[in-house]
Amino acid sequence: MTNPLRGFEDRRLQKIAGPSGLIMFGVTGDLSRKKLLPAIYDLLNRGLLPPAFSLVGFARRDWSTEDFVSVVHDAVKQHARTAWSEEVWLQLVKGIRFVSGQHGDPEAFERLKQVVDELDQERGTAGNHTFYLSIPPRDFPLVVNQLDESGLAKAGPGQFRRVVIEKPFGSNLETARELNDVVERVFPEDSIFRIDHYLGKETVQNILALRFANQLFEPIWNGDNIDHVQITMAEDIGIGGRAGYYDGIGAARDVIQNHLLQLLALTAMERPASFDAAELREAKETVLAATRSPEPLDEHTARGQYASGWQGGEEVKGFLEEDGINPQSVTETFAAMRLDVHTPRWSGTPFYLRAGKRLGRRVTEIALVFKRPEHNLFGEGATSQLGENALVIRVQPNEGVTIRFGSKIPGASMQVRDVTMDFAYGHAFTEDSPEAYERLILDALLGEPPLFPRQREVELSWEILDPIVEAWEHQGAPEEYAPGSWGTASADQMMARDGRAWRRP
Ligand code: BG6
Repeated sequence: MTNPLRGFEDRRLQKIAGPSGLIMFGVTGDLSRKKLLPAIYDLLNRGLLPPAFSLVGFARRDWSTEDFVSVVHDAVKQHARTAWSEEVWLQLVKGIRFVSGQHGDPEAFERLKQVVDELDQERGTAGNHTFYLSIPPRDFPLVVNQLDESGLAKAGPGQFRRVVIEKPFGSNLETARELNDVVERVFPEDSIFRIDHYLGKETVQNILALRFANQLFEPIWNGDNIDHVQITMAEDIGIGGRAGYYDGIGAARDVIQNHLLQLLALTAMERPASFDAAELREAKETVLAATRSPEPLDEHTARGQYASGWQGGEEVKGFLEEDGINPQSVTETFAAMRLDVHTPRWSGTPFYLRAGKRLGRRVTEIALVFKRPEHNLFGEGATSQLGENALVIRVQPNEGVTIRFGSKIPGASMQVRDVTMDFAYGHAFTEDSPEAYERLILDALLGEPPLFPRQREVELSWEILDPIVEAWEHQGAPEEYAPGSWGTASADQMMARDGRAWRRP
């Protein structure tokens, strides 16, 4: 029955996922505990999951379903965004199952299939299942092949089987293609959901609203007016317990290949014909295909490793002293690069990207720095305190947008200095933004693909990054930087050579 209160055009009511199950591989990992399991609870708590929902964990541990339930319980209690509700929790627990097994073991997948079939009967999940792979890349072929051979990947008529893939999508173009071949052999392209969790962030989706729902910005959103763009993703944490993943991967592959290049693509792309997945992805792909770092690469890129020292009143280890890191490792924990977008809109306007661990503070922002007016009416003295106009999208924390421009200082003389105008989510909206993973898990269950990059985007991103990372391989050890600083001296020099400077976010 249709809801009589919901008009055809009423977009305020969110879509609710239909009967389906989520089968998670990699449930013992950090991501699962801190983000995925809490996001599932939050979705249920917000009424966005169906009564016929089930959650199956699959892992090597010799756990019972009760053990897994208690892991989910602790994860939700500790990390959920929404309030605890015993009622919601009990509803979730009814659909939770656990299957213990190795990723390559056919018998374990037989057991999994049995559990899935039972859930279809007992819980009414209707043969609709989504496999969430949050596992090390080397296990991909094993799991995907087992899903195929056990028949789990096959949907019956009117049912769906989807796969959600967590990054990394390979470690270069070649391995990304190998990985994709494995997945595409078993799942059709429209059933594959590649996660870039930055696309699930409200502030990232808001780039589209800011640019295309307003008349104010788009006319000046180009190289005629913008001098350059700076995209910063700074983290104050080190690599924590992730040595096994991070050593050999580094900052560029970890976050620039995906998150920062997605931010660049959304900032630089042309207006898509619609927000339909195909059109949106095509608009981003056109930009990525036109993006390259200028030669010589060593002048336009920089990399570093955090040294030991003091950060926030605490003594911290250097990267080479972290547990599990090879003391000779040349993996970078900070990367900066200039990228040129060779489209008519951006000709002559470089994009500078930087990302790193153990930097001054946790902040991700996109800053569009404007040119100075050509004819300065005011004379140098009057504008000596005036910087460039800037529009800054604060992705996180303190989400919002800041516009910086010049204003006359009150008084008899004509002195102009920088002032800011600010939009903060916390002031403008009463509702808290959902976590990125809530949005993405829901979209995967709904089968809505616009916020998931397709393989072409992944490959184009590697084509931008591969030459840079290969050039670094011939450069020996990265430069050290102090914890709590803003990266290496070479990154500052890279900007200075272009007559520019990094912003202090
Ligand atoms: C992940 C990276 O994709 O993003 C991590 O692998 C990083 O290294 C994390 O810490 C940061 O995410 P967020 O949402 O906290 O900016």
